[in-house]
Amino acid sequence: MDRYEPVRQSIADIIPADWDDGSLGPLLVRLAWHASGTYDRKTGRGGSNGATMRFEPESTDEANNGLDWAREYLEPVKDKHPWISYADLWTLAGVVAIRAMGGPEVPWRPGRRDVDASQVQEIDVPKPGLLPDAAQGSEHLRQVFYRMGFSDREIVALSGAHTLGRCHPCRTGYTGVWTSQPTRFTNQYFVLLSTVQWTRKQWDGLEQYQDPEDRFMMLPTDMALIHDPQFAVFVRMYADDQALFFRDFAAAYGKLLELGVPFGCPAHGGAREQNPIEP
Ligand code: HEM
Repeated sequence: MDRYEPVRQSIADIIPADWDDGSLGPLLVRLAWHASGTYDRKTGRGGSNGATMRFEPESTDEANNGLDWAREYLEPVKDKHPWISYADLWTLAGVVAIRAMGGPEVPWRPGRRDVDASQVQEIDVPKPGLLPDAAQGSEHLRQVFYRMGFSDREIVALSGAHTLGRCHPCRTGYTGVWTSQPTRFTNQYFVLLSTVQWTRKQWDGLEQYQDPEDRFMMLPTDMALIHDPQFAVFVRMYADDQALFFRDFAAAYGKLLELGVPFGCPAHGGAREQNPIEP
C-alpha cells in the first residue's frame, strides 16, 4: 500500500472536527495555498518546500491569521506519522480536504523537506506582502499570480476555492460566506459571482460586497474577476460547466502546491508538466 494512504486517512479523520463553525476543511485548503503562494518564479524563492510558515516573519504575517489553528489541528497527524515532513503534510491536507468536501482529486506527490530552526538564519523565510491583498483589483491579482507563474485562466480557477469557507472578522476584518454550502466543493461561487446583483455592503467595516438578501459576500478581488473582461470569460465558463472547473482547479491547485519544490530531474521521475492548463 502507498505509505501516504494512512496519512490521507488520518487527515480525513480530523476534517469533520467540531471546531469553530465546523469547517476545518476550508482552512486546510487555505493553509496549503498560503504555504505555497509565496513563490517567486524569477528568484525561485518561497513556496511550500521548507514549511517556513513555522518561523517568523511568515508565521506572524497578518495574511496568515488563523492558519496557526490549521497547523495545530494537524499536529496529532504528524505525531502519528512522524516521518512525513510538515511541508508534505500541509500540502497533502489541502488535497485531502478538497476531496473530502466533494471536490476533484488533485495530483500530489511527496518530496518536500522541512528546514529546521537552526537553518532559519541561512534561509529566506518569506516576508509579508507576497500573498494577494483582498482590497485590490485585477492588476494586483495579475502581478501576484504572474509572479508565481499562473495564467489568467488559472487565476480564475484557483479563486474558485472561495466556494468554500468563510471570512472571519477577527482574522481579516471581512465577514460572511461566499456560497450556501461552505463545506461542499462546487462551482456555486462562479454561478453567484456572474448572476447576482452585487452591491457594496453598508457597514462600518472593510469594503466588501453582498447580494440583495445579504446572505453571501464577495471580496473586492472576487469582484475584480467579473469586472475584468479577460477574467470574466473564465468566470462564465466555470459557472456553465462544473466538470471543467473541477478539471482546471485540480491542475492549477496541484501546480500551486509544487511551486519551487525540487523534485529532481524528469528522467528520475521528477517535475511534472508545469503548465497543464491552456492560457
Ligand atoms: C485571489 C486572491 C485571494 C485573496 C485576496 C484571498 C483572500 C481571502 C480572505 C480575505 C479570506 C478570509 C479569511 C478569514 O477571514 O478567515 C479567504 C478565505 C479563504 N481562501 Fe482566499 N484569497 C485568495 C485566493 C485564494 C486561493 C487561490 C485559494 C485556494 C486555492 C483560497 C482559499 C481560501 C479558502 C478555502 C478560504 C476559507 C478559509 C476558512 O473558511 O477559514 N483563496 N481568502
